[in-house]
This record gives sequence, C-alpha cells and structure tokens, in this order.
Amino acid sequence: MNKNIVILGTQWGDEGKGKIVDYLSTNSSYVVRYHGGHNAGHTLVLNGKKIVLHLIPSGLLHPKVIGIISNGVVISVSELVKEIEMLKRNNFFIENRLFISDAASLILPFHITMDIVREKKLGVNAIGTTGRGIGPAYEDKIARRSLRIGDLKNEKNLSIKLKKIVNYYNDQLLSIYKHKPFDYHLILKDLLEAKNIINDMITDTTIMLHDAIENKKIIIFEGAQGSFLDIDHGTYPYVTSSNSTIGGVITGTGVGPKNIDYILGVTKAYSTRVGNGPFPTELFNSIDSYLSKKGNEFGSTTGRKRRTGWLDGVALRYAVKLNSLSALCITKLDVLDDLKEIKICIAYQNVNTLEIYHNISFSNLENIQPIYETYTGWMEQTSGIKKIEELPKAAKNYIKCIEKIAGIPVHIISTGPDRNDTILVKNIFL
Ligand code: IMP
Repeated sequence: MNKNIVILGTQWGDEGKGKIVDYLSTNSSYVVRYHGGHNAGHTLVLNGKKIVLHLIPSGLLHPKVIGIISNGVVISVSELVKEIEMLKRNNFFIENRLFISDAASLILPFHITMDIVREKKLGVNAIGTTGRGIGPAYEDKIARRSLRIGDLKNEKNLSIKLKKIVNYYNDQLLSIYKHKPFDYHLILKDLLEAKNIINDMITDTTIMLHDAIENKKIIIFEGAQGSFLDIDHGTYPYVTSSNSTIGGVITGTGVGPKNIDYILGVTKAYSTRVGNGPFPTELFNSIDSYLSKKGNEFGSTTGRKRRTGWLDGVALRYAVKLNSLSALCITKLDVLDDLKEIKICIAYQNVNTLEIYHNISFSNLENIQPIYETYTGWMEQTSGIKKIEELPKAAKNYIKCIEKIAGIPVHIISTGPDRNDTILVKNIFL
C-alpha cells in the first residue's frame, strides 16, 4: 500500500499540482509544503468556486486533513496571515489543523525589496522572479543569518537579531540601490502582531511527521514550482532558490527517503514557463495564442502571461530520472481538444554540429533545437471526462505515447479544473 506520496512538477511549474494534491488529499491525514514560499500559486476550484493558495498546503481544504509548512519553506508571516484570513472568509476553518515549523526561515520586507531592485538592475538579464523575496531569503538561510519562525517566540532576541539584519540590508540598499532604509521598529511591530495569530501553530514539525509515520498515517508532500526551476538541476541561473526536485522533500521536512512510498510527477499535456530562461519547445505562433487563451496561461501569483510550447519528452524523461518518479499525472488534456495536430519533442539537435541528444543536462541547453513527432488531434471535447474508456482514441494514443517516452505509467489524467474532472487510471493508494 502507498502511504506517503510526493506530488511534484516535472516541468517549469504551473503543472496543476494544487488540484491533484487537493484531489488525493481525500485519502490522507497530513499534507506538507516543504520548499519555496509564496512565489507558488496553487489554484483550486471547488464546486465552481476558485481558491488560490500560495503558502498553505492545498490539502487543508479537506476538513480533517492536517496541514504542515515545514522547515524547507521560506515564510512571509504577513502573507501567511492574509491567507489564513482569506480561508476563514471562505468558511474553511483551520483551527488546530495548520502547523508551522519553528525552523523555517522568514521572508522579511527587505528581502522583497532586494529581490525587486536587483532584478531591475539586471535589466534584460533579469531572472524574471516573482518579486516575492525568495532568493534573498534563501541566501540568508545559507549564510546562517536568517530569522526563523522560532525566533518569534522570544521578543528580546527577535528584536536584537532583527536590528542586526535590518542594518545589514539598509547598508546595501542605500549604498548600491539608493533605496530608502527600513525602520526596524515597524517590521518588529508587524511581526509581533502576526505572531499573536500564528503562535499556537508553531512547533517542531519534523517530530510531528516522525510521529505520524510511526502511527501509520498517510502523508502527502506537496511540491511547488517544477523540476527545471530546481536550484541544482534546473536551467541555472534561471531557476528558483530551492530544491523543487525530490531531494527538497528530505531536507525540507526531516523525513528520510525510506518513508516515501510513491512519487507522482505532475505533467501538463503541453509546456509552459513564466519568467526568463531556456525553453526549447517554446511556440511563437497562433498555437501559443490558442494555448494561452484556452489554458488560461496567466500566472496565479503575478498575473504574467506564461510562455507556452509543446510537451518536451527530453525534459520529461530527465525529470523521471531526477525524481525517481513512480508514475505521471497528465493535466489539462482538455486544453488540446481543438488542435488538428499535436507535437511532442522526442530529442534535441545541436544546431551547429547536428548531433542528436536523447538525454541532456538542463544546465547546458545552448544551441539546441527540438525534434518533434506529430500526432493527430482528437478534435472532440474531453473536458469533464471521468473514465479512461470515454476518451477519444487519439487522446488515448497521446497518453500512451507519453508513457512510452517517459518510461513510466500515467496513473491520473485531469480533464478540467474542478476536483471532479479527473480520471483515476489506477488507485494509487492500493
Ligand atoms: P523566484 O522563485 O520568485 O525567485 O523566481 C525564480 C523563477 O522561478 C522565475 O522564473 C519565476 O517565474 C519562477 N517561479 C517561481 N515560482 C513559480 C511558480 O510557482 N510557478 C512557475 N514559475 C515560478
């Protein structure tokens, strides 16, 4: 039986992980966010109502699920409080069901400013970050000068540490970017206010998870971003600042690899990327406009238009290996419904040497162009289909081709944004 499941993205994020976490959470006791911060945007549609979560684990919308934000996440407490209040307004009650690691690092206002002013200075070479302070916050974590959630519990120490780090940032902001300094009193006041709201949620989440494992509870680990935004394995430097591949689960929670039973790679039926950086199958024609419009490919965090492209089989095969994936979940299949032809990239070719690559490191994607296989489209509506038998023959064929390219089976297919628009090819909890 699969007990503990990781759900992560195999592309550049925005694969539709939130919906799948929510869908599978019906069977779980715990759902854990383990890396990234409020750069993520998980859109859920429940009975026609849209909820967007950035920090709170998607599974928490189920009334009995316990949500954990573990040590690997960087947390803006003001954003967290906003999200808690948004859920309350929408009648989701999370009292005694959300826990936050005392070892998680804080995102503070100067991290956000630093992210924005640095990107501005980079001009055309900008990463295209979400401007949420993610990079600077993780820098502080690695440099061992972070304030952590646990620091909120000791007002005197918090005040001393905060003063030091505010001075550190004010020096740089003023001298390099001519930005006005931050007043540490104001930041302290906001932190203490937020602390009053989240105080009872702060705990050692690693111990909590070890206890849950001992008690044979089902845990879902909810990935953010996607494999090729990983700081080590992605299209560096056009990446985020955390490990969005499988290793992030281990370091980001304190749960060992033997306690993971199944790893589901969520893959959109085509590709998208938001922000700058290599994107081999990117489209610049009318298919791009079609995919953006039909797939509503606009960022749920920043509202930016996502770049779109065909499904990249080379990237997918690499993601399967990077993450030891057990199976795939294909999302947004219905977005392809009106296309006469659909392509999948099966290899890359070096434009200078004409050498063909079936496997390649994603930190080195220069001078390559995709080689495609073309499939006939199904030109029929698949949205809302709940049984694999009901899919058109050409759509079933497309899924089979993905399985062949990836070398692993497809266990779930999503045919629409609603929790119920889902085909469960195999019950993964059996
Ligand atoms: P950062 O994570 O804000 O530093 O942004 C670094 C890169 O990751 C940029 O290209 C962002 O657009 C991208 N990114 C960060 N979070 C997400 C996400 O949740 N979905 C898609 N792209 C993301």
